[in-house]
Amino acid sequence: MSGQRRTPADLRSFRWFGKDDLRSFGHRSRAKQAGFTLDDISGKPVIAILNTWSDANPCHAHLRMRADEVKRGIWQAGGFPMEIPLLTLGETLMKPSTMLYRNLLAMEAEEALRAYPADGAVLMGGCDKTIPALVMGATSANLPAIVVPAGPMLRGNWRGQILGSGSDVWKYWAERRAGTLDECSWREMEDGIARSFGTCMTMGTASTMTSAVDALGLMLPGASSIPAADSAHPRMASASGRRIVEMVWEDLRPRDVMTTAAFENAVTAAMALGGSTNAIIHLIAMAGRAGADLDLDRFDAIARRTPVIANIRPCGDFLMEDFYYAGGLGGVLSRLRDLLHTDCLTVTGRTVDENISSAIICNDHVIAPLSEPLGRDGGVAVLRGNLAPDGAVIKHMAAQARLLQHSGPAVVFEDYNDLEKRIDHPALPVTPDSVLVLQNSGPLGGPGMPEWGMLPIPKKLLAQGVRDMVRISDARMSGTSYGACVLHVAPESFVGGPLAFVRDGDTIELDVPARRLTLHVPDEELARRRADWKPRQVEYPRGFGRMYAQHVTQANRGCDFDFLEGTDPIPEPEIH
Ligand code: FES
Repeated sequence: MSGQRRTPADLRSFRWFGKDDLRSFGHRSRAKQAGFTLDDISGKPVIAILNTWSDANPCHAHLRMRADEVKRGIWQAGGFPMEIPLLTLGETLMKPSTMLYRNLLAMEAEEALRAYPADGAVLMGGCDKTIPALVMGATSANLPAIVVPAGPMLRGNWRGQILGSGSDVWKYWAERRAGTLDECSWREMEDGIARSFGTCMTMGTASTMTSAVDALGLMLPGASSIPAADSAHPRMASASGRRIVEMVWEDLRPRDVMTTAAFENAVTAAMALGGSTNAIIHLIAMAGRAGADLDLDRFDAIARRTPVIANIRPCGDFLMEDFYYAGGLGGVLSRLRDLLHTDCLTVTGRTVDENISSAIICNDHVIAPLSEPLGRDGGVAVLRGNLAPDGAVIKHMAAQARLLQHSGPAVVFEDYNDLEKRIDHPALPVTPDSVLVLQNSGPLGGPGMPEWGMLPIPKKLLAQGVRDMVRISDARMSGTSYGACVLHVAPESFVGGPLAFVRDGDTIELDVPARRLTLHVPDEELARRRADWKPRQVEYPRGFGRMYAQHVTQANRGCDFDFLEGTDPIPEPEIH
């Protein structure tokens, strides 16, 4: 941000539309082909609306309509909107995981902004990986950008009970497997759990990431909490359209906002919300694009000092709709004021302090006072030890407390297929004290680090009433999941991390208060197993998967591509 207001001749798009040369003739004549006049485009900031709407993503079903509301705001403020559809990353349909494609969307966003005559960008997404991907791409392009989040869907309903996305699916699926829920009830839930467009309305990855990006300062304050179907949502969309035009004139860019202090605010918010473990991976990747300092240890340090005050499933009782009407993210941030860097600049052009000055909280059951938090030291812990030299994470807020210090014998599954085949076998040597281990589910092993980390409880234990046990993997888990699941073990087993050398019966010790994860096997025996270990082959002869396999980093580095990290400037396409 230069502090000087830009003029039309300073605009990047001027190189496309403002000059008297052959190329500009082509650009202008083709704008006219689309029905626009010279007045429509001349001297106006061109705003690229990067829209991840598609029929393949029900969470974004309304974003086609919302893009028109964003355009209305852009026109009103004197800009020129240009909607560009991007890869949609529909969480509910893509296999093996949308995480495999997060970096592809990030590349697409960055390159679209670089190649087209964009002066600024509106980033439209919400479903899990879309927000981090769009922000990563826009950060690397570093043009003025504002996020319009899809917003959470309405509460689910079933026979008078409130249902939350994901969290209640896992809960009732366990009952179904235990034989305590009939098929008719299960079908009725299928009808009632997703009542509107919008993202998962629990504090899953979507709401965690939109809230974190809100706290980071990249959207209009509180936008992340607005339910997708509330009329405040289209009003927020058009207001964002108006604001991005001003941001272009002010030359307010993502990296002006995305400082190390701002990332610490984002982490603090995610921890206070009892947010998804996926936020750790995404925020580290985003910080890497912005040149900000953020690593696992900083996450853990912030988590330890941050109370969980949002009472939202899966850590609490309520849903995003309740959260919005209780005061939303602004309410939470106002309660966390002493833990935040309130002088951070945001896309409003104002500081966090100014943005939250008028926040109110209407319901202390949903947004708890600091004196009565749901948890005193954040929702997530970072673990280390000989089983995870580069770190692992656990959402301990969502686990049974008795399991947070636990030793037990390992029951090992070599991959997800093996898990599916044997988990419910009556002969599986498993007890409630066992530690379930899943290998080959990380960034390369999955591939794409699928959300397999909430390993199912074996049926025979479900029948005994067991509903939680220690589970360890190099996978991720859905932000809507819960249980004593140790995730993101790094380095992953596929590349020869120690998780690859665990055998049935080995004793594993989890100690969350001490942040330790220990495999009690002598070093000499581990060295022998390592020497005997045969790596699996990556099976990508060509295509995106091949590039992914060659360049993806491990979970502790955010799973970005190594060649996309950093802030080195990339030349603008042709300078005339
Ligand atoms: Fe789209 Fe959860 S499946 S946000």
